Amino acid sequence: ALQQSITPKARNKKQRSWNHVQPQASYKVAVLGASGGIGQPLALLIKMSPLVSSLHLYDIANVKGVAADLSYCNTPAQVFDFTGASELANSLKGVDVVVIPAGVPRKPGMTRDDLFNINANIVKGLVEAVADNCPDAFIHIISNPVNSTVPIAAEVLKQKGVYDPKKLFGVTTLDVVRANTFVAQKKNLRLIDVDVPVIGGHAGITILPLLSKTRPSTTFTDEEVQELTVRIQNAGTEVVEAKAGAGSATLSMAYAAARFVESSLRALDGDADVYECSYVQSDLTELPFFASRVKLGRNGVEALISSDLRGLTEYEQKALEALKPELKASIEKGITYAQKQ
Ligand code: NAI
Repeated sequence: ALQQSITPKARNKKQRSWNHVQPQASYKVAVLGASGGIGQPLALLIKMSPLVSSLHLYDIANVKGVAADLSYCNTPAQVFDFTGASELANSLKGVDVVVIPAGVPRKPGMTRDDLFNINANIVKGLVEAVADNCPDAFIHIISNPVNSTVPIAAEVLKQKGVYDPKKLFGVTTLDVVRANTFVAQKKNLRLIDVDVPVIGGHAGITILPLLSKTRPSTTFTDEEVQELTVRIQNAGTEVVEAKAGAGSATLSMAYAAARFVESSLRALDGDADVYECSYVQSDLTELPFFASRVKLGRNGVEALISSDLRGLTEYEQKALEALKPELKASIEKGITYAQKQ
């Protein structure tokens, strides 16, 4: 099972209930950008979910083969393929969760913001179709720069009169997955136990792991905090450089996105104990969008978890203040782009 962000107590309860109740496969999930580097392994992981009845795969090219291949896995989800703009609307009809990894990835030397012009336009077009065809769906935005593409999506949904801020999510799960992995390695902890909230945004210094809030409670030296924080912030760039022009993180991203999909489906299914970090509309700070832990429920975000922001260390407090201008500028860039169209 994909590791979830839940308290140890909740985890025990969950494990007990998993032994007795088989979940019903009853949800429809669409992946837009399904034949890409993230899209393919993400589709595979979603195909493994016992909660999914239909998996809709949409891309502008190469999606037929991916769907045929996946359809042979003997798991409940039925796979359907949709190619090109003329089939986009049908790919979205009746869908509960839409995941968007469509767009171009970074190459060495690029920042996530360098992708803005191409991906902003792709996200805008896809979210317009979501607004027209499944306005009640949860929308998971993976396409970078997430700090700007989520505000763009919000504006598009507003223009269409269907914006529900509780159902629009920027996927920052990979930052949490990385933080958990690096902290577990450094502190010799059991991976399954470690949960580090990551707040702010999803680019460079806007990614702020709150190491002081690590569960189980763990102490770090100043040097460890500095080293881990920088490594978590730059892990995406580490992969871009290691792939040397062949793209950015795809496999760990697919894992992280699948975890976020599974959490969303469990919330839709009535599980009352689902918590994840995500970049959402927020009033936790003066910024209109902000990543934090959120409680997920049937209607999307049920609560923003404000307690993580209390009692920050001096290092975290400074880093939080330092990230705000960059995050604010990325949000405004997205809003301006969407309003000018
Ligand atoms: P990729 O280039 O391998 O795949 C992108 C796919 O999108 C391709 O199959 C392409 O045909 C498709 N596509 C392009 N325009 C489209 C449109 N209008 N409609 C539907 N599909 C369209 O790229 P990869 O590696 O899968 O990355 C995708 C995005 O995810 C990039 O923007 C990347 O920066 C972002 N990303 C986000 C992360 C996060 O933590 N949120 C982590 C890693 C990547």
